Amino acid sequence: MKSVYIHIPFCKNICSYCDFCKVFYSSDWVNQYLDMLEKEIKLIYKNEKIRTLYIGGGTPSALNINELIRLFTIIKELDISSLEEFTIECNIEDINKEKLSLFKKNDVNRISIGIQTFNPEFLTFLQRRHTTADVINVVKLIKEVGFTNVNVDLMFGFKRQNIKSLKEDLSSFLQLDIPHISVYSLMIEENTKLAIDKTIEIDDDLNSKMYELINKTLKSNNYFHYEISNYAKAGYEAKHNLVYWNNEEYYGFGLGAASFIKDKRGENTRSLTKYLAGNYIHQEHYLSKKEMMQNEMILGLRKTRGVDKKSFFNKYQCFIGDVFDIKDLINNKYLIEDENKIYIPEEKLFLSNEILINFIE
Ligand SMILES: C[S@@+](CC[C@H](N)C(=O)[O-])C[C@H]1O[C@@H](n2cnc3c(N)ncnc32)[C@H](O)[C@@H]1O
Ligand code: SF4
Repeated sequence: MKSVYIHIPFCKNICSYCDFCKVFYSSDWVNQYLDMLEKEIKLIYKNEKIRTLYIGGGTPSALNINELIRLFTIIKELDISSLEEFTIECNIEDINKEKLSLFKKNDVNRISIGIQTFNPEFLTFLQRRHTTADVINVVKLIKEVGFTNVNVDLMFGFKRQNIKSLKEDLSSFLQLDIPHISVYSLMIEENTKLAIDKTIEIDDDLNSKMYELINKTLKSNNYFHYEISNYAKAGYEAKHNLVYWNNEEYYGFGLGAASFIKDKRGENTRSLTKYLAGNYIHQEHYLSKKEMMQNEMILGLRKTRGVDKKSFFNKYQCFIGDVFDIKDLINNKYLIEDENKIYIPEEKLFLSNEILINFIE
């Protein structure tokens, strides 16, 4: 069993903060792209049964109906007879009943929508084109078409955002009655419009208070905090994303897509010109046993339940404590070790980058 990620890099609008692999939508490019995507899948996929499938972007929902029909035809190459979860990322402004019904007809069972914030000032700052009224209508439509497994992406930590406006965003989210949320602290990435203004980062203290508020609010509303940025109601954890954090195998098809099969990590080119010319691969790296174990820890410790000691031993025939010097991290309570697992305590998750760096040489 394998998992598959498919990248659709087209967007109708480029947001001020985004450093993801994306280009402006053009129907001419979409057609050529889908041709190459089909070739790539045929070349690389080895007919395994697929357990989770994730179409991300960019904006998959930016494709028009005919392009989406073509995309689903390509997906028929994959053996999805045992598929447990099939997610598609959607943006509010280009989703409608026709597209949602097409998703449903083609076995999609999870919708992920990028909302980011409900605050009009911050929506403008992020250069998002939807309004809160649009969000409410789209969520209603998603439920009407019959999707119950839905995720919302929210961001926090904008300049001028304060605790009160974050509380308002969280309360607007809760009113939507959606079982999963990913909440990201705004990162100012190079080569984005936001990076031009150096004064927009908010201070670490406020950012960590915001993270605390998010944890507290979501937990008190029965969302389980299962990964640094992810919260779910019982039974709604994202199975596909857990494949990444559990260091399990997945194919990655499309522009900039990453893959991990056996001991090989691959990354496709981010150049559309190269991709369309059939030069998919940007780099491939065969991992040593040590690198595999490092990834197991770096990815696994993102989960609040951390890394299972027995599973680690069964996979690598060694004990975590013999491979990594974690005594100081444990003594200083950056890591907790219990009978079964090693994990980062929730109050330290905000510092996870500083903790995880200890597992890289
Ligand atoms: C693959 S991206 C975009 C998916 C979709 N096109 C959208 O815009 O909603 C997934 C999520 O990453 C988050 N994200 C993207 N850039 C970010 C940044 N610079 N800082 C924090 N979060 C970011 C956003 O919440 C976004 O929805
Ligand atoms: S955030 Fe989403 S919609 Fe905006 S540019 Fe990035 S991928 Fe496209």
